[in-house]
Amino acid sequence: MAHTARIFSGIKPTGHLTLGNYLGAIRQWVETDQHRADALFCVVDLHALTVDHDPARVRRLSRQAVTLLLAAGLDPERCTVFLQSHVDEHTRLAYLLECTATDGEMRRMIQYKEKVAREQAAGRSVRLSLLTYPVLMAADILAYGADEVPVGDDQAQHLELTRDLAVRFNQRYGPAFTVPRAVLPKVAARVMDLQDPTSKMGKSHAESSGIVYLLDEADVARRKVMRAVTDSGSEVTYDREAQPGVTNLLEILAACTGRQPLELAGAYASYGALKRDTADAVVELCRPVRERHAQLCADPSYVDEVLRAGAERARGLARPTVDAAYRAIGLMPPA
Ligand code: TYM
Repeated sequence: MAHTARIFSGIKPTGHLTLGNYLGAIRQWVETDQHRADALFCVVDLHALTVDHDPARVRRLSRQAVTLLLAAGLDPERCTVFLQSHVDEHTRLAYLLECTATDGEMRRMIQYKEKVAREQAAGRSVRLSLLTYPVLMAADILAYGADEVPVGDDQAQHLELTRDLAVRFNQRYGPAFTVPRAVLPKVAARVMDLQDPTSKMGKSHAESSGIVYLLDEADVARRKVMRAVTDSGSEVTYDREAQPGVTNLLEILAACTGRQPLELAGAYASYGALKRDTADAVVELCRPVRERHAQLCADPSYVDEVLRAGAERARGLARPTVDAAYRAIGLMPPA
């Protein structure tokens, strides 16, 4: 029998989900991944504890993220949707991978360095879990024997680390893990902040005027796009270096309409028209998700049941893989 690909991906409930999350990841999960493979999608709540957090907010955002994934079109009949903290295997395996990774390797992670700078600038101490975060992420993936991990461009380095850890573990202790690969979208793999098109549109950024949230009201989303920073000059060219603002809008419009950014660049004579069309496309993309989210919020027991069934299936898949890794690394099975 042909091997059905296993897909795993996750999203962190540290803020409201953004257009970047949608175009960079969620849309692939909904439109292709859940139809073509055995796919698991996880709201990685443990990862939300790596920076200063408010317990009630994490709880609220976790439920909101799950509800939004369902609203965006993940179908629990086709894929497995669950919360990371409901399946103990993630943290069980993370420890073994901490015994596989090195301190130097962890400190080289770009996101770690960026987040340390942000925490220190805010006068907060850095949690140890921020350093070990990519190991927990590797455990998320390796526990399920995932072949493919559909993510945005910012996760590419974490995926490389995951592969390195899988290969190293397998070489030392025998073939315990599938070595996964990252799958990035062709356009909009890195949606940039509308106010600062040289930095990523990120859900945990404090300044929100350059971030479109999936739950923004239509007029709010429209205003954010219309006020996007564009570049000096007036020609519309697709060039990330010379015209980062315009290029970002072209990427967003291309991703929303299924066209090519380069081809779109040729179709616009002014920034104004490009902004208007991008705003329309973004509003139309988000509208059905927001409406379905409101419907699903009226029935929290449905979401609870999805999570219960999802965790049960996920546990059943992860348990044998993680148990085998415990044996391989030299731990005695309980009598
Ligand atoms: P997170 O929660 O930051 O983002 C979730 C997904 O959205 C993508 N993404 C973007 N894509 C394009 N443009 C953007 N501006 C943008 N912002 C976010 C991310 O690349 C990601 O695919 N560490 C991960 C969560 C995680 C995970 C995992 C992912 C934990 N364990 C295992 C895959 C597999 C993260 O912080 O994603």
